[in-house]
Formats: sequence, structure tokens, C-alpha cells
Amino acid sequence: MIKNKTWFWLMAICVFPLGVAGCMTMSGSGAVIVPAPKIAGAEFVGMDTCAACHEKISKDFARTTHSRIVVSGDMDVKEQGCEACHGAGSLHVNAQTNEEKAKTIVNPGKAPEACYQCHLKQKAEFGLQYHHPLPEGKMTCTDCHDPHSPEGVRPGSLTSLGGIDSACAKCHKDQAGPFVYEHEAVREGCTVCHNVHGSINEKMLKQRDAHLCLRCHYQSTYPSIGDTSHSSRIFPGPCWSGGCHTAPHGSNYNEHERL
Ligand code: HEC
Ligand code: HEC
Ligand code: HEC
Ligand code: HEC
Ligand code: HEC
Ligand code: HEC
Ligand code: HEC
Repeated sequence: MIKNKTWFWLMAICVFPLGVAGCMTMSGSGAVIVPAPKIAGAEFVGMDTCAACHEKISKDFARTTHSRIVVSGDMDVKEQGCEACHGAGSLHVNAQTNEEKAKTIVNPGKAPEACYQCHLKQKAEFGLQYHHPLPEGKMTCTDCHDPHSPEGVRPGSLTSLGGIDSACAKCHKDQAGPFVYEHEAVREGCTVCHNVHGSINEKMLKQRDAHLCLRCHYQSTYPSIGDTSHSSRIFPGPCWSGGCHTAPHGSNYNEHERL
């Protein structure tokens, strides 16, 4: 399931011939790079300035995907460090009180807009009918992603999650197990079966019917799966419907993933 994505394939597209606002850059998986969020009256100070006070974050950040975004062309390179997400920092740096500091910097942990600027594809995914309740304000991107830390980066997808499944287990203990009879698919990751930003299928499933399972369980002996013919079983409903494999995440009672 691991996609071999070429590292940072960046392509500059200038929509308008002049001016930063018209220029954006696209990456391999569709992220666009646009100028940082606006903070009225503030100027860019660059990462080294932030590091003076936020030492640990700055050190960890140096090993993350976002620190490696390289932009050529008109955009100021300084905009692409911390300030790509937090907005220009000069007012924050000079602010005297913590309260004033909080007011003069963008904190995308509170709202996803700063991320959506560049991640239009994920914005669209959260717009699909079945999605995590992030547009409703009940979650943020940082419930699953840690933008400062490279821990648990998944090779290929480059996703900074503390291991995909442990990120999910925080909130979905029932599905994460452990189970007496594990389903090996879950070991590959929850995202083998779920599109977690959003999906057109209920329960955010990648596919709504037997095809979800047949991607892995379609053998040359089909319709035999395991040692049982499934020719009369596939059509009444999905594999996890009543009486069948009702425990797709694993079972404590039955080796064939049933409750
Ligand atoms: C002179 C020291 C100093 C510098 C330089 C500095 N910060 Fe801060 N920053 C602080 C302090 C102090 C706080 C408040 C900490 C608290 O409330 O616990 C803070 C808080 C923050 C917060 C949290 C705001 C919130 O929502 O409460 C963010 C985000 C942040 N800084 C980002 C940055 C970025 C990005 C830079 C570089 C552009 C930067 N800081 C430079 C001292 C600094
Ligand atoms: C990819 C976007 C992104 C970049 C780039 C980024 N941050 Fe953040 N930052 C966030 C998000 C999201 C949060 C909110 C975290 C949360 O709610 O758990 C945050 C929160 C913070 C905070 C508040 C304290 C905390 O841990 O919640 C500080 C301070 C901070 N960032 C500093 C920095 C510095 C310094 C850099 C550059 C070295 C940087 N950030 C780069 C997205 C980013
Ligand atoms: C419920 C957890 C969760 C939330 C909330 C979430 N993500 Fe993700 N995200 C994931 C997982 C899991 C992957 C890895 C998908 C894979 O590797 O198959 C991922 C992958 C990504 C990727 C890599 C490209 C891709 O789509 O595979 C980007 C970019 C991304 N997320 C951005 C965001 C942004 C921006 C937000 C907030 C608006 C967000 N995510 C909220 C779990 C989440
Ligand atoms: C300045 C543009 C920009 C902003 C702002 C931005 N990203 Fe990204 N992001 C990128 C690019 C470019 C990549 C790498 C190419 C790709 O895989 O799409 C990336 C990759 C990612 C990935 C996959 C790689 C990894 O590090 O795990 C995740 C997850 C992600 N971003 C989440 C976020 C979140 C959450 C925010 C907001 C806190 C955010 N991004 C803000 C441009 C941005
Ligand atoms: C911060 C908590 C949190 C995290 C982390 C989280 N989720 Fe969720 N998840 C939720 C909430 C809240 C809902 C919506 C529940 C509802 O509407 O009843 C949900 C819904 C779902 C649903 C649909 C359930 C349904 O009944 O339609 C699936 C599937 C799901 N999450 C899978 C995942 C996966 C896979 C991950 C890890 C990539 C993950 N979640 C991470 C909180 C979380
Ligand atoms: C082999 C495919 C597969 C994998 C892997 C998988 N799921 Fe599911 N998941 C399903 C199916 C199928 C359903 C729908 C079950 C139903 O409707 O009875 C579902 C439903 C859910 C629900 C909704 C709860 C419910 O009972 O309706 C949540 C939450 C969920 N999964 C979370 C996860 C988490 C967390 C992981 C990773 C630990 C994960 N899933 C891995 C197939 C999978
Ligand atoms: C990512 C690949 C993958 C997906 C998708 C997948 N499985 Fe599996 N499944 C496996 C592997 C690997 C095993 C263990 C080896 C075996 O028994 O074939 C397994 C074992 C099983 C078993 C136990 C074997 C037995 O003899 O009864 C059942 C039942 C099962 N899967 C049902 C499902 C169902 C239902 C779905 C869809 C909701 C599904 N699987 C989706 C990979 C997958």
C-alpha cells in the first residue's frame, strides 16, 4: 500500500505574470505552495529568529517534510519556514506579553485554513459526505498530524503520524485491538480500508462493497476464498454484512473475523 512518491517534485506555476499573489507551486501529491497567511503590519523574520525562543520545535522541525519545501522564483524563501503556516512573525517577536504574542501569530492548530491554502485536495476530501468532523470544528489536522515532528513518518506517504494506527487508537480503541484473532489487513494500517479525510462511502470506506476485501482476497481459485466457495455469498451484501465477517477489524471469538 505504500506509494513510492518521488520526493518533492515541485513545479512553479504563475497564474498571473507579476506579483507573489499570482504565483503558486505544485508538488507531486497536489499540494500547492502559496504565500503565508497574512498578519496585518507584520514582516517575515525567518526561521532562525523563531529558533531563538522556540528551540525544541525548531530543532525537530528541521527534519520534517515542511522544512524541506524549496521554492524557486519570486517567492521569498523566508516565507517557507515556520511562517508558511504561522504568518509573518515580526509583531509576535516584538510583543511584550504572552497575550499579545498569541494575538500576533497564526495558530493553525485552532483552525485548518492555514493548511488548506496549500492542501486543496485534502480540503476537498473533507467536503465529501462521510468525513471526520473537522469542518464541523470538532477536530483539527493536529489530532492526527504533528507538523513539527518527524516521528513515525510513514515511508512513501511521508505522513507524520505517530504510526497511523496508534494515531487512530487514541480515539477508536474498539477497532485497534488487540484481538485474539487478528486480521492481518489491520496490521498494514487502517488506511488500507478507510480514506480518513473523507469518502463518498459510509464509514469512510475506500469501497462500498465486496471489492474492498477482494483487493486482497481474490485468488486464482475464486470463488473459493479460504477453503469455502463464496459464489452464492458475495451478492447479498458486503462481506461484513449480517452473519458473515462482521468483525473486519479482528475478532475475539472466531478466526474467520466474526463476532
Ligand atoms: C522573543 C522570543 C520569541 C520569538 C523570537 C518567537 N516567539 Fe513565539 N512565542 C514566544 C512566547 C513567550 C510565546 C507564548 C508562550 C506561552 O504562552 O506559553 C510564544 C507563542 C507562540 C505561538 C503560540 C501562540 C498561541 O496560539 O498561543 C506560536 C504559534 C509561536 N509562538 C510561533 C512563533 C514563530 C513562528 C516565530 C518566528 C516567526 C516565533 N514564535 C518567534 C516567544 C517568541
Ligand atoms: C506545516 C505548518 C507548520 C509549520 C511549518 C510550523 N508550525 Fe508551528 N504549529 C503548527 C500547528 C498546526 C500548531 C498547533 C499545534 C497543536 O495544536 O497541537 C503549531 C503550534 C506552534 C506553537 C505553539 C506551541 C505548540 O507546540 O502547540 C509554536 C511555539 C510553534 N508552532 C512554533 C513553530 C516554529 C518555531 C516553527 C518553525 C521551526 C513552526 N512552528 C513551523 C503548524 C506549523
Ligand atoms: C483522522 C486523522 C486525520 C486527520 C484529522 C487529518 N489527516 Fe491527513 N492523513 C491522515 C492519514 C492516516 C494519512 C495517510 C494516508 C495514507 O498514507 O494512506 C494522511 C495523509 C495526509 C497527507 C499526505 C497526502 C495524502 O493525502 O495522503 C496530507 C497532505 C494531509 N494528510 C493533510 C491533512 C490536513 C491539511 C488535515 C487537516 C485539514 C488533515 N490531513 C487531517 C490522517 C488524518
Ligand atoms: C506553504 C504550503 C503548505 C502549508 C501552509 C502546509 N503544507 Fe503540508 N505540505 C506542503 C507540501 C509542498 C508538502 C509535500 C508534498 C506533498 O506530499 O504533498 C506537504 C506535505 C504534507 C503532509 C505529508 C507529509 C508529512 O510531513 O507528513 C502532511 C501530513 C501535511 N503536509 C499536513 C499539513 C498540515 C496539517 C498543515 C497545516 C498545519 C500544512 N500541511 C500546511 C505544503 C504546505
Ligand atoms: C481525535 C479523535 C480521533 C482520531 C485521532 C481519529 N478519529 Fe476517527 N472519528 C472521530 C470522530 C469524532 C468521528 C465521528 C464519530 C461520529 O460521527 O459518530 C470519527 C469517525 C470515524 C469513522 C466513521 C465512523 C462512522 O460510524 O461513520 C471511521 C471509519 C474512523 N473515524 C476511522 C479513523 C481512523 C482510521 C483514524 C486514524 C487515521 C481515526 N479515525 C482517527 C475521532 C477520531
Ligand atoms: C480490512 C478492512 C478494514 C481495516 C484495515 C480497518 N477497517 Fe475500520 N471498518 C471496516 C469496515 C468494513 C467497516 C464497516 C463495518 C460495518 O459497517 O459494520 C469499518 C468500520 C469502522 C468504524 C466505524 C465503527 C462501526 O462499528 O461502524 C471505525 C471507527 C473504524 N472502522 C476504525 C478503524 C480503525 C481505527 C482501523 C485501524 C486500526 C480500521 N478501522 C481498519 C474495514 C476496515
Ligand atoms: C490489505 C489486504 C487485505 C484486505 C483489504 C482484507 N484482508 Fe482479510 N486478510 C488479509 C490477510 C493477509 C489475511 C491472513 C492470511 C489469510 O488468511 O488469507 C486475512 C485474513 C482474513 C480472514 C481470516 C481467514 C480465514 O480463513 O477465515 C478473513 C475472514 C478476512 N481476512 C476477511 C476480510 C474481509 C471481510 C475484508 C474486507 C472488509 C478483508 N478481509 C480485507 C488481508 C486483507
